[in-house]
Amino acid sequence: MKFFIDTADINDIKEATAMGIIDGVTTNPSLVAKVGRSFREVLLEICDVVDGPVSAEVVSETAEGMMKEARELAALRDNIVVKIPLIAEGLKATRMCSEEGIKTNVTLCFSATQALLAAKAGATYISPFVGRLDDQSGDGMAMVADICDIYENYGFTTEVLVASVRHPMHVLEAAKMGAHVATCPLSVLLQLTKHPLTESGLAKFLKDWEKVPK
Ligand code: G3P
Repeated sequence: MKFFIDTADINDIKEATAMGIIDGVTTNPSLVAKVGRSFREVLLEICDVVDGPVSAEVVSETAEGMMKEARELAALRDNIVVKIPLIAEGLKATRMCSEEGIKTNVTLCFSATQALLAAKAGATYISPFVGRLDDQSGDGMAMVADICDIYENYGFTTEVLVASVRHPMHVLEAAKMGAHVATCPLSVLLQLTKHPLTESGLAKFLKDWEKVPK
């Protein structure tokens, strides 16, 4: 299973990368707005730190506008993946990107049938937003299970990138379902490292070590 970090904060990216567990990065306009710097500058800085896929989102609402942005973004670095919203215009742009060899991450997916359309349009990744669906009393992980089944049934190569991950259980369930990628904020990645028995065990080892003659 691949782990991407879901942030535009270069310090968080460096911290997670140093743990040796990061395969890529996802950003979105809200995450970029949080860092308060130019999108291009932040994107290039991220690509200097991470060799794997780095998702950068378009903000146009027409296929034509999305394609203009997609071509510009893809030309910046080889590892940039263009993030496209799951609307009809976005599917048109996804198809055109696929034909031009531009990798895509189709985002804002909230149903398995939306994911089916994205795969048919040639998406490289599909991003089901599990946390936001859970927030609305939906079942984010049931959606991911359905997407995995549907893609398996028809042999689609689109990778399932579980997004809007809020806690380690989302990651555990995604891994059990065989989702290709989970994109998590640094806080969730750090939560995954923790177990109370690891902490108490380490404290005991260190205390006992004090008794060892030096
Ligand atoms: O990058 C997209 C997604 O992961 C956003 O998550 O926490 O804003 O719902 P969230």
